[in-house]
Amino acid sequence: MSPPPPVAVREILLPADTIQTRVSALAAEISADYRDGAPFVLVGVLKGAFIFLADLARQLTVPHEIEFIALSSYDLGAASGEVRLELDVRHRLDGKAVLIVEDIIDSGRTLRYLIRLFEAHGTDSVRTCALLRRKSLAAGPPIDYVGFDIPDEPWVVGYGLDYAEQHRTLPYVGVVDVRP
Ligand code: IMP
Ligand code: MG
Repeated sequence: MSPPPPVAVREILLPADTIQTRVSALAAEISADYRDGAPFVLVGVLKGAFIFLADLARQLTVPHEIEFIALSSYDLGAASGEVRLELDVRHRLDGKAVLIVEDIIDSGRTLRYLIRLFEAHGTDSVRTCALLRRKSLAAGPPIDYVGFDIPDEPWVVGYGLDYAEQHRTLPYVGVVDVRP
């Protein structure tokens, strides 16, 4: 048996059914917006967006491709201050309508980096979708589709999000008592 997770979930912030309802609404909105136009590709940001992207993409009613990208900006929950590209997309994005799919926008640093990166690929358009956005992010990068605005303080886990690689597969978003 694996050892128990090091940090316990204190409280459920977003129950599973609340998340599913919102994801369905986002999928409907995105499907309507991308009905016509350039080839549509979702680019998920690993690892945190993997569950959100899987649920969202399976409810889209328009043709789409899936790519993933991996970055590091946080190491074991501690902010390192810079963004590094760890894994690039496998196929060319030029001429495509790119939708970046993120788990949570905190400072906005990661998203700003990605928007610049994809615009340099010669894309048709670059838009952004995040499951969660912290409320303080008033002057952050543009986010076209937001699941939920959440408070600044608690560190959240579940539905793809981790603390020290734990808790990613919880069906809900919960709060743990740490904030690096
Ligand atoms: P940003 O560049 O500051 O916007 O950082 C965004 C990234 O930090 C997210 O994609 C997450 O990977 C991570 N992150 C920020 N806050 C949390 C949290 O509460 N739980 C889990 N990951 C988080
Ligand atoms: Mg992330």
